[in-house]
Order: sequence, then structure tokens, then C-alpha cells
Amino acid sequence: MSGLVSPHGGGGLRPLQLELGRAAEERKRAQTLTRLRVTSREKGDLIMLGIGGFTPLDGFMKHADWRSVCDDYRTAAGVFWPIPITLSTERNIADSIAIGTEVALADPDDDSILAVMTVIEKYRVDKTYECTSVFRTTDLDHPGVKMVMQQGEVSLAGPVKVLSDGGFAARHGALFMTPAQTRAEFERLGWSRVAAFQTRNPMHRSHEYLAKTAIEVCDGVLVHSLLGNLKAGDIPADVRTRAIAVLIEEYFRAGTVVQAGYPLDMRYAGPREALLHALFRQNYGCSHLIVGRDHAGVGSYYGPFDAHRIFDEIPADALETKPLKMDVTFWCYRCGGMASGRTCPHPDADRLQVSGTQLRKWLSEGSDVPPEFSRPEVLEVLRGYYAALEEKVEVKLAGSRLG
Ligand code: ADX
Repeated sequence: MSGLVSPHGGGGLRPLQLELGRAAEERKRAQTLTRLRVTSREKGDLIMLGIGGFTPLDGFMKHADWRSVCDDYRTAAGVFWPIPITLSTERNIADSIAIGTEVALADPDDDSILAVMTVIEKYRVDKTYECTSVFRTTDLDHPGVKMVMQQGEVSLAGPVKVLSDGGFAARHGALFMTPAQTRAEFERLGWSRVAAFQTRNPMHRSHEYLAKTAIEVCDGVLVHSLLGNLKAGDIPADVRTRAIAVLIEEYFRAGTVVQAGYPLDMRYAGPREALLHALFRQNYGCSHLIVGRDHAGVGSYYGPFDAHRIFDEIPADALETKPLKMDVTFWCYRCGGMASGRTCPHPDADRLQVSGTQLRKWLSEGSDVPPEFSRPEVLEVLRGYYAALEEKVEVKLAGSRLG
């Protein structure tokens, strides 16, 4: 028997992607169906359903699930679930789809067919209600709120058959692991106590410290990067994962880290998203989730430790995967090392804290970044990215002058 945590929902993993032969047949058949282009966020959710990361869901949620998830963190059937997983479209398109019929769900980038869904319900959601429940705000400057407010007027619910991995494997190679694959890898390594390190960034020393602290008390760490989309202007996934790979190579003991990525877009739902992060890490086989400062937050919509607190507010049996709550981490000049709010007695003035904006400025200007903040190998990858970006801008400007 496996020593890993069980998949969410009490049964086995439930990947909804068809095997190759059946997928090819379905794809042919789906050519004749009404084609719905999904959004980037919906595509991520769909691929996650395909690989079993959203076990035990069988597709996009019905109105009763949506309502119950907003109010009680549960689907209508009583499965713990913190964020609605819904699909939306415009009213005229929804009107043309009869209940009980199938639609083809197409990739927002290249229009290829990602999945077939049987539409069992069409409904409207109160978007303001969803945003207040899930994001704790209706401010349109919040990127998650904006996304919900921009989605189509009508939601479509129903089970899905997923036909593709959305190109994630082609783009990210072996980093794109399914929950079955991470579980197999943990078993091969003989791990049962596994901490997931959720990240949407390259890893600097504060992140390295969080992961290493978890390694002290667990068998190993899954460094798990978001591979979907972030806010405009953020560092693309391939650059982030390359920067993480060099850090692992140079600064972690072999056999203590598995690096992988997952296909979702960021929702920036702070505490609720931290719960979703723990839920799907349970499917990936992780017994713990590192939850640090302002986990999955954006701007100042959430308190720095709201995502810690929410784990105390849910029923004890909601999730098997538990949080490893970590205080803010930094380099302290007086301590002469990495430290945290729990271990360092010194004032802010002794602590090196660098904002994302400051770092971007240093990197794009080619200025030095303190080695106490980030490893030189990581900075080299990031500098390469910013230099290429500058070049592109220059070429564009030169092109527009010529034109
Ligand atoms: S997140 O959206 O994925 O949470 P990020 O990649 O910045 O964003 O953070 C990854 C994890 O590290 C999260 O658990 C976050 O709370 C934690 N974290 C990031 N920076 C710090 C820090 N300086 N101190 C403590 N925790 C941190």
C-alpha cells in the first residue's frame, strides 16, 4: 500500500483525458460539433481535469455547486472545494446550444479541440457575489475579479472528455508531470511525507530557505511551478522554471527535490486559492503545502497571513494535505544568515527585503542585486531574459522608425 496521502474525494485519481486512440476518434467526431473557444483560465482548468489534478470533479460545475462552493466551500454533493470551476460563454452562443448536446471546447491560442463537453445545465451567476465570496473584493483592479467580471454571461455545466494536454508537455517537457507521475516518482524515491512548494516566481533565497526548511522535516519537496498565465508583464514560465532548475542543481542535495509544473492560470484569490493549492497537491501526492507570506495574493487585498488562518477555519477532515505555515523569510545582516519573523529578533533595518518592482528595475537596468537576496546563477538566467526583452523593444522601436 502507498504511504502517500489519498487523492481528494475518497476514491482513486480521476483523470478525464482519453487515451490516444479514443482521443483521436473523438477529435474526428468533434469536428462536427459547435465549437466554443475557452479562455486561458478555463483551458488551465480543463487540462487539470484531464490529468486528474482536480479529482474527483467530472467537469464544469452546475449552479448548485457554484453556489455551495461560494457559500460553504463544498460542491452540492458535499466534496470540499474552495473555488468555483466554471465555464462561461456569451448569451447568443448559449442560446444555440440545447441541453443534453455535446460541444467541442477549443484552445484559445490555436483553436484546436481540447475537449468535448455534454452540456447538462445553462445558468447565470451573480458575479459580484462570486467575487465577494472568493476574492473578498469586487475591485476591478484585482486581476481575479477582472477575469470573473469579463467572463461570458452564461455558464455551461457538464462532464468533459479531455482530448489533449493543451501543448503543455510539448512546451515544458518532463516538467509537466501528471499527479500519477509525481506519485510514482515519490514512491520510487521512497517518500511519504512530501511538501509542495507552490510558486509563480523564480526562486530567490527566501524561497530556497522555505523549501529547505521543509526538507528538514519532510522526506522531500515538490517544487511546483504554475505554468499557465500570470498578470501581463510577469516573467514567462519557461524562464522561471529554468531559473529554478539552476538553483536546484547548484544548491540542493540530489534526491531531496522533484521539480514539476502544473497547467493552471493564477487567480490571485489569496486564502481561497491556498486551499485549492493544498487540494490539488493532495492529488499530486503531497502531504503538506508550504504556505508563506501572502500566499497567492496580489497587491494588499489580503493580510500577509490570511492564508494561514483559513486552514484553521475549515473542518479538520476537509483535506489530508496540511499547511506548513511559514513566517516571512529574509536575509538578516545581524543574524548573518537567512532567518524568519519567528526566529530573528532584529528590526526591519537589519533585514534585506526586496520588492518585485525593485528587483525588476535592477535587472532591467543591469544593476547589481545583493547576493544575499538571490543566487548569482538565478540572476544570470533572469538577466538573460531581461536583456533579450530590451533587445526586442529596441528592434521594435527601430522597426517603427523605419516604417
Ligand atoms: S504564490 O502566488 O505562488 O504564493 P510566490 O511564488 O511569490 O507566489 O510564493 C511562493 C510561496 O512562497 C508562497 O507560499 C508564499 O507565501 C511564499 N513566500 C514568498 N516570498 C516569501 C517571503 N519573503 N517570506 C515568506 N514566504 C514567502
